[in-house]
Amino acid sequence: MAEDLTISISDSKETNYKSIIPQIEALLAGEDDFVANMANVSAALKEQFSFFWVGFYLVKNEELVLGPFQGPVACTRIKKGKGVCGTSWQKGETLIVDDVETFPGHIACSSGSKSEIVLPLIKNGVTIGVLDVDSEHLAHFDSVDKSNLETITNILLKH
Ligand code: SME
Repeated sequence: MAEDLTISISDSKETNYKSIIPQIEALLAGEDDFVANMANVSAALKEQFSFFWVGFYLVKNEELVLGPFQGPVACTRIKKGKGVCGTSWQKGETLIVDDVETFPGHIACSSGSKSEIVLPLIKNGVTIGVLDVDSEHLAHFDSVDKSNLETITNILLKH
């Protein structure tokens, strides 16, 4: 397993994802501990993109409970259908929110977060958690983030 990342930062998101995705694959290769792998995915994304907040919530007893993350402390529990994370869980869909203040019921863990993307982690047809990425910039996330972060969640779910 590779333990050091080579971070080269480009102006192009595509290039940044192309650089980090194979490294995430190498980091997770041969490791089946889901918590360890979520922790390393969060750390790798934070190093590559300096996102404001990046991390996981896991479904436990019909709630989302905070999992491994990088960034400021965050809300511990989120109910189904609440906030962007709870809505992504309920719908089983990736959600991109350009301005969190306009999202009904958005849960403001930090006033520093302005836009957000949340991807459900779907295993055998069941959503077991979400990946949440927050930016301090408005409208930071687009279809490039969606497709590449989906690739990353698929790598995670394969292990
Ligand atoms: N803003 C999220 C809550 C999680 S934090 O941003 C880390 C939401 O509305 O679901």
